[in-house]
Order: sequence, then C-alpha cells, then structure tokens
Amino acid sequence: MNEIQKIRFFSGENIPLEMHKVRVVQKLHLPPVEERLQAIRRAGFNTFLLNTREVYLDMLTDSGTNAMSDAQMGAMMQADDAYAGSQSFERMSTAIGEVFGKRYILPVHQGRAAENIIFQSFVKTGDIVPMNYHFTTTLAHIQINGGKVVELLADDALKIKSDNPFKGNMDIAKLRAMLEKQGASVPLIRMEASTNLIGGQPFSMANLREVRKIADEFGILLVLDASLIGENAYFIKQREEEFKKASISDILLGMCALADIVYFSSRKVSSSRGGAICTNRPELFEKMKVLVPLYEGFLTYGGMSVREIEAMAVGLRETTDETVIGQSPSFIRYLVERLEAHQIPVVTPAGGLGCHVDAMGFLPHIRQQEYPAGALAAAFYLVSGVRGMERGTVSSIRDEHGNDILSDAELLRLAFPRRVFTLSQVKYVEDRLHWLYTKRDLVGGLRFVEEPTVLRFFMGRLEAVSDWPERLMEAFRADFGDSL
Ligand SMILES: Cc1ncc(COP(=O)(O)O)c(C=O)c1O
Repeated sequence: MNEIQKIRFFSGENIPLEMHKVRVVQKLHLPPVEERLQAIRRAGFNTFLLNTREVYLDMLTDSGTNAMSDAQMGAMMQADDAYAGSQSFERMSTAIGEVFGKRYILPVHQGRAAENIIFQSFVKTGDIVPMNYHFTTTLAHIQINGGKVVELLADDALKIKSDNPFKGNMDIAKLRAMLEKQGASVPLIRMEASTNLIGGQPFSMANLREVRKIADEFGILLVLDASLIGENAYFIKQREEEFKKASISDILLGMCALADIVYFSSRKVSSSRGGAICTNRPELFEKMKVLVPLYEGFLTYGGMSVREIEAMAVGLRETTDETVIGQSPSFIRYLVERLEAHQIPVVTPAGGLGCHVDAMGFLPHIRQQEYPAGALAAAFYLVSGVRGMERGTVSSIRDEHGNDILSDAELLRLAFPRRVFTLSQVKYVEDRLHWLYTKRDLVGGLRFVEEPTVLRFFMGRLEAVSDWPERLMEAFRADFGDSL
C-alpha cells in the first residue's frame, strides 16, 4: 500500500489526494465562447493549431508538459556545459543504469529520434514489425524504412468498455502464428508500455515474459518503448497479483531486463525533455551509435541541452516513487468514474496518460469518414476552452487509393500531464463534457481542406460540414448566459 492508499476520508469518498504542494504557478485565462469559435476556425478545427493563449486547460498531451519537481529544477542549475564528455551525461547514464538496469546509453533529442535510429538500424524494405499497438511516430518511422507494422493485441483490447486489466497485452498465439509464417522477415518485436493510442492501457509482466520467450525461440530482438513505463509499472503493481508487494523500482528493472533495447521519450517518462536508447548488448549499441552524431549530436548530449539531461536524471529516479507516477492515473480514474456516472462513453478500465472519451459512442450520428473524434475535440474546446487531442481517423493515414484507413477507435484524449491540474479543474472538465453530452445532437462532422501527406493530424486543416459550430455556440449562450 502506498502513502495515498493509507489515507482514508471520513466521508468515505474516494478522492485522489495530492502528495505535493504547488510552489510555482502559471496564470490561466478562459476566453469567451465567441472568441473560442473564432480560434477553432482559425485553427482549422485542429486543436494542435490553437495557441495556448486561447486555451484554458491544455489537455492536448503530457509530452513535455508534466510539472517538474523542485529537485529537477535545482539539478538544472548544476549542469555541466560541454560538447563532449559532460558530467551531466554521466549523471544521466548512472540514473538510467539504476532505474532501467541498462549500461550502454545513446542520448537523443526526443522519442521519435530514438525510433529513427532504431528502425534505420534494424528495419529494411519488406520487413514486418509485430507490436502490441503502433504509435503514430513509430508507424511513420517503420514505413519510411520500407517496413510494415502488424498489431497483435488481444481481441477485446479495442472494446471501449472492458474489465480487462491488461488491454495492452500482446496476443501470444497470434504472435507465434505470425512468426511461424513470416518470422524470416521480422527483425524485431516492439512492445509499448501503457499503449498510448488505445487509451494508455498497460501490459502485464506475465505477458512481457511470454513475448520474451517467443523472441528467444525465434531469435528476434525485443524492443521496449518505455515512454510511459512508469504508469505501466504502477498498473502492474496495482493489478498483477505477483507484484502487489513489489517496489516500483523492482518492477521497472524487471520489465527492462526482458528487453534487448529500451527507448523512451523523456518528455513523458521523466517529466523533462529529450530521450534515450539503452541496451546491455554492446553489438546493438555499436550498430546504432554511428547514427547519433549524424542526426542528434555528439554522443554525450544527443541534441539535448545539458540542463534537460540533469532534469532527466532526477526525473527518472522520481519515476520510481509511486506517489509521483500514480498521480495522473488516480486523477484519470476519478474523471472516468464521474463521466460513467453521467453515462458518457469512456474507455475502461481507466488507463495512464489521459481520459479517453469514445467519440463514436458520444456522436453515433457522425460517420467515421467525417471524423467524429476530431469533431468532438473541436466541439469540446468550443464549449469549455479545454484542449484535448483527436486520436482517431484524422490521426490515421490514407491507403493507396486515397481512402481513409478508418481508425480502430475514435477517441478524444484528455491528457493529464503529471501534477499539473487541480481537482476543481477536473470537475470543470466533467461539467462541460456533461453539458455537451446533453447537446450532442448539435455536433456535426468535419472534412479536410488542407491535408499533409505525412502525420497529417499535426498540421492538417479541416472545416465543419455545416453551420453546427454556430448552432452549438448559440445553445451554449442560451444555457449559460454571460458565463464563460
Ligand atoms: C509511446 C510513445 N512512443 C514514442 C513517442 C514519441 O516521442 P516524442 O514525442 O518525444 O518524439 C511518444 C510520444 O508521445 C509516445 O507516446
């Protein structure tokens, strides 16, 4: 039991209590609904293109937006500025050794840079990479190297409502069958901790062990994307009997010991910036090493500032503290339970990273070709000033005939950067989503007006298929009067 679980409320309420206090704050502003309508239009109905001046709560992502601790800020002041041989890099390597148990470290400027180096080193044209599920940048990097991705989640992993505690598990029978047929074209298996695109859902240690066994049997590398490993370790402790009494440190070391290569975005895992690749196998290290000076920078900074490197070292150690990494999952669980109480469709069980609202359940009248998750993200911003992220078909790609590849799920992700929001802000999110749910029939679809060919969700611009945004704004004014 961690410290928070030991504190019970007299009222019996299950309130996610904070084990930190706020010492540095940033002023926020909520623009009126008329300005929000102008802003979302100007942004092409794409929340990525909003300016934070136009946003009240920024729930776009936890990437690079987690709150830093006083210890991290303090460490940043002691950074050792050197092009080569920096002591800051030594401190980061020591922390990675302690927390992930890996010896050979390659620094990179962020998670996708690690993917560039790993997939350029190991994936060639015609290769197939099995994984529990893809992440957008992972898919793009594998494809750019001529490879294909095969997703091997268990069948119920994509069900919105589920009580499966480990929806991020790989289906071992499917993996075996796939390798028996196509093993010769498989350079590596990738497992993603707290599988981002299906709702921050973890895999179990038992499942990772099974994947390891198969990787050994077929002589294939196992690569672990550890960008959200802290939350996955937290869920293993909460949900997997064998680990109920284990420390987060031991779980993290156990997970990493099963992988040949571990990589991560430290924008996520260590509440800082940057990223790294690590391994205990010198031959893999040597193969990847040559690409680091080419794309990232010298081997002791890899595109990061030394201050970020220091913050990463401290942030990684803080990841082993259950009250730190459990903070967003407990707030997410709180919001998920509140939304379920209003019958609003959300992904369950509550995962890490964010609360994921099921846009197809929320807006069943919008066809996937008109992007229900994108429409819900835009509509929710309009009625609340809260910026979430579309994780659906807008975040997908087109096939060779130019048709949208429809996403398995259409989700509005409301990310919970670690230790950033208060409970009253979470209650505001609940309130505005509840109101929107009562007016859901007013929300219509979107269509692209400018569509980049790669990672279109970042910069693409869309428009509403009708005047639904104006009608939604009028309904808001009718119900809320002068209220923001
Ligand atoms: C699971 C996962 N892998 C890789 C990345 C890419 O990391 P970055 O944004 O630092 O490039 C992310 C980013 O969100 C992620 O969630």
